[in-house]
Order: sequence, then structure tokens, then C-alpha cells
Amino acid sequence: MTAPAWLRRGALGLVWLLALPFAVYAAVFGWRGLREDLSAESYLFATGAPGAETALSLHMLSGAGLTALVLLQALPVLRRRWPGLHRSLGRILVAAAGVTALGGLIFIARVGTVGGPLMSAGFTLYGFLMLWAAAETLRHARARRIARHRDWAIRLILLALASWIYRVHYGLWALLTGGWGSTQDFTGPFDRIQMFAFYLPYLALFEILRRRRRQNPLDPAGRAR
Ligand code: HEM
Repeated sequence: MTAPAWLRRGALGLVWLLALPFAVYAAVFGWRGLREDLSAESYLFATGAPGAETALSLHMLSGAGLTALVLLQALPVLRRRWPGLHRSLGRILVAAAGVTALGGLIFIARVGTVGGPLMSAGFTLYGFLMLWAAAETLRHARARRIARHRDWAIRLILLALASWIYRVHYGLWALLTGGWGSTQDFTGPFDRIQMFAFYLPYLALFEILRRRRRQNPLDPAGRAR
């Protein structure tokens, strides 16, 4: 059973509105990182590795664009009425995912992360998954394998929103527990779980739903592989 179209549109709109402040924050931070000396303001710009800091600024700017635009691509009306726009926006999003992931990966390779090796591992995996999802989304679209393209596009959307979800997890946890298990240097038990829990459970849930849908003989979308 799928939700009615108005409910899906409403849910997408709500998530977009909630994620928008984070996109604006990332855009402003990235822009200032490129134009100002932020070394007194943030440890991210006091690394002694200017190339890595530029990569991180570009990462934040493209990540902001990705967060703000990715949900538009999920609107069925855009695909149906303006397929050209869907294709152009798709190319922009794939490029933005590439810059975002590569910028983050360069920063990790040069500087590491505030939370140490485990956080670096979690974010490195996140970056490579984003690159993979972007490449597969584009590849299957070009080959007109629509069902596979759709599956990879959903994975890319989940990964694109994961950075915002990471902050949402922290916000909700602080409200519920006052921040139990989280430390300044991101080495508490909650921090360690979060290093992977902002994307892996959502990707796993999507896999479960996708497999269920495929096994349903009445669902034409599920059989169209
Ligand atoms: C839509 C996606 C993304 C957005 C909007 C985004 C945004 C940001 C922002 C604003 C920061 C600065 C820290 C803060 O103020 O919270 C940051 C830091 C960082 N991001 Fe991303 N990011 C995204 C995706 C990714 C991906 C895919 C990776 C994986 C390579 C990544 C790796 C990092 C790393 C390593 C840092 C520095 C962490 C630290 O040591 O504090 N991000 N990102």
C-alpha cells in the first residue's frame, strides 16, 4: 500500500522546510571559509593545511546546494511535466554530490576528523557511498534502466539528506537525554554510534522495503527491473 500523492508531497515539503536552515548554514559557512580567515572561529580552519580547508569550504557550498535541491528531484510532477528539467537538475545534483564527497574525503585524508579514526572511517565510508550512488544513478539513467535508476536515486537522496539527519539525531538526543553519551571531542558512546547511524540504518530500511516490494507480484514497479 502506498501513501496518497498529497501526503507524499506534504511529507517531502515538510522535510525540505526542516532541512533548509542547515543548507543555509552550510552555504554561509562555506562561502565565508573561501573569503575570510576563520582560524580564530573554527578548528576546521586552523589546520595548517590551506588546501584541505578550501576543499572543505567547497564541500560545504556544494553540500548546501545538494541538500536544498535534492528533494525537488523526488517530485513525480517534475519528471512527468518537465523531463528536460529533471535531467538537467539530475546532472547538477550528481556533480554536487561528487564535489561534496570529494571535498570531505580530501579533508579527511589531509587532516582527519575531530572524533579521530572511527569518525574518519564512518565519514570516509559515507563519502564513498555518496560517490557510488551518484555514479550509479547517472549510469542507469543513461542506459534507460528506469527502475534501477530510481532505486539508486533514492539511495542518493537518503545520503544527501544524511548530513542533516546527523544534526537532527544530535538535536533530538539532546532534547531527550540532555546529551548523554556525547562528549566535546566526539568520543562518547552516542557519538561513536552516530558515526555510522546517520546513514546506514536508513539505507538498510530502504533495502528491506525494496526487496519486499520486488516480491509482491501485484506491484508493477516492483517487477519492472
Ligand atoms: C549534503 C551533504 C553535506 C553537507 C551539507 C555537509 C556540510 C558540512 C558542514 C556545514 C561542515 C562543517 C561542520 C559543521 O559546522 O557542522 C561539514 C564538515 C565535514 N563534513 Fe560534511 N557535509 C555533507 C556531506 C558530507 C560527506 C558526504 C562527507 C564524507 C566525505 C562529509 C565529511 C565531512 C567532514 C570530514 C567534515 C569535518 C568534520 C570535523 O572534523 O569536524 N560531509 N560538512
